[in-house]
Amino acid sequence: MTDAPPATRPLVALRDIHKTFGAVTALRGVSIDVLPGETFALLGDNAAGKSTLMKILTGVHQPDDGCIELDGTSTHFPTPSASRSKGIEMVYQDFALADNLDVRTNVFLGREPQKKLLGPFLSVIDRKKMEHETNRVLERLDIPINPRLKVRRLSGGQRQAVAIGRALAFDARLIIMDEPTANLSVAKVDKLIEVTQRLKDLGIAVIIITHRLDEAFAVADRFAVMRQGQVVGRFRTGEVTETQVAQLISHGTIEDHLDSGIDAAEHRRKIGSTSATTTGSTLGNLS
Ligand SMILES: Nc1ncnc2c1ncn2[C@@H]1O[C@H](COP(=O)(O)OP(=O)(O)OP(=O)(O)O)[C@@H](O)[C@H]1O
Ligand SMILES: [Mg+2]
Repeated sequence: MTDAPPATRPLVALRDIHKTFGAVTALRGVSIDVLPGETFALLGDNAAGKSTLMKILTGVHQPDDGCIELDGTSTHFPTPSASRSKGIEMVYQDFALADNLDVRTNVFLGREPQKKLLGPFLSVIDRKKMEHETNRVLERLDIPINPRLKVRRLSGGQRQAVAIGRALAFDARLIIMDEPTANLSVAKVDKLIEVTQRLKDLGIAVIIITHRLDEAFAVADRFAVMRQGQVVGRFRTGEVTETQVAQLISHGTIEDHLDSGIDAAEHRRKIGSTSATTTGSTLGNLS
């Protein structure tokens, strides 16, 4: 018997994920995990494999090898809807909104609530419920937008709120944002940081993919750096400087790395070898 409290069980863990596209090896044994309610940044240069990893988590791609665990149980997501049905929602870089439709319709696109008319035989879309729910989720984000406005009339920040609201409307437990600030002004980036904080307050985990280190440092509890299809570093915010992380992103190593009780050998290791290194070395070890 031990007095030590149990470590928090990850909400989601990706273990030793491999993925190739023809001759291109996108992922060479990647492991990360995300705890309930935490904000996790996935960093790395172009083509590091970040989006591919998230597409595996959201059922867009299937891994060649490795597994996904949800609440500690091995699972697989053959389709995006399988992943969504477990509370995992993706907010795409372009927000994937339909410009010519209104806000409430975008929030519910493809998942419109129905109501019965004339007994059990005729169903119609329940627009009132859509409007009510849209108001509710946008209020939760503290970004009020008229649900009847056409999306093409919205600003970049408002569009993003609609995209995140769409995830919230379906009780997301994990929201993945791929380069969410790429199209936003500085003021809108601040707003996103606020929104991310709000999601955390609501107990929703977030994975944010970004090239912007200031943003990652502002919002994330922990982060992982990917390079050439591998994880080359995992840290809590505060354990490393932005300069060190920038080195890691561009060179695969950092100097004077703090040991911090985590797998420092891996961080120092010059990447580029073909050996898979992340198996069994998950973020849960940091907890
Ligand atoms: N559907 C695909 N078909 C072929 N190759 C792909 C496909 N998707 C990704 N790749 C390749 O896999 C590698 C990783 O790509 P990925 O999009 O995951 O990188 P990333 O880290 O998201 O980069 P960025 O920061 O530029 O978005 C790249 O070499 C890319 O060309
Ligand atoms: Mg990408």
